[in-house]
Amino acid sequence: MSDPRFSEIKACVFDAYGTLFDVHSAAANMKDDLGEKSEAMSDLWRMKQLQYTWLRSLMGHHADFWQVTGDALDYAMRALDMEDASLRAKLMELYLQLDAYPEVVDVLTALKDGGKKTAILSNGEPSMLIAAAKSAGIYRLLDGIYSIEAAGVFKPHPSTYQVAMDGLKVAAEDVSFQSSNGWDAHGAGAIGFLVAWVNRFDQPTELLPAPPLVQLKTLSELPPLLGL
Ligand code: LAC
Repeated sequence: MSDPRFSEIKACVFDAYGTLFDVHSAAANMKDDLGEKSEAMSDLWRMKQLQYTWLRSLMGHHADFWQVTGDALDYAMRALDMEDASLRAKLMELYLQLDAYPEVVDVLTALKDGGKKTAILSNGEPSMLIAAAKSAGIYRLLDGIYSIEAAGVFKPHPSTYQVAMDGLKVAAEDVSFQSSNGWDAHGAGAIGFLVAWVNRFDQPTELLPAPPLVQLKTLSELPPLLGL
């Protein structure tokens, strides 16, 4: 259903990991090699990856998301007694070829046909994001791929969201921002983006400032929300 608050937006900006790309597809594609701990490893990998972004930002010790992703994978493999150099290398390679969620290509196509700009704003470092977008077949459907590397700090620092505004040359109120990461949705809301939380996994509402304006189940609900 369309929402008048979103009717004038010029650009749709998307979080990448978890929102456009399924971060668990790397381990899922290697289930046979990883065995029964595959899902636990993937969950811990993602959790540590995010924790390290927040911790590094608080510590003032930035490292790019490729390093953070590798460090988090090392932690998860060690914690679950699964250390293996070749499995590690393969999982990192698969992180550059994550599956896009099934609706993503159609949604981006509909947004572009509807005259909206489309972009990624992600913690990912630029070459990771470009590789994943090309591999998933969405590179040509994006007007911009923006990385927080331009800000030198991870989301949800306010300066990270500014990177997309500067790149697209739009104001915060011109942007609808979509993330499946609740904390990212709040971060984007706090700087004035119109935020749709893509609550793919039925997670409870976060108790943080600046709640998202709407909740979607998948990105398929976005074009109708915008009246497209
Ligand atoms: C990103 C993380 C938050 O893509 O998933 O920025």
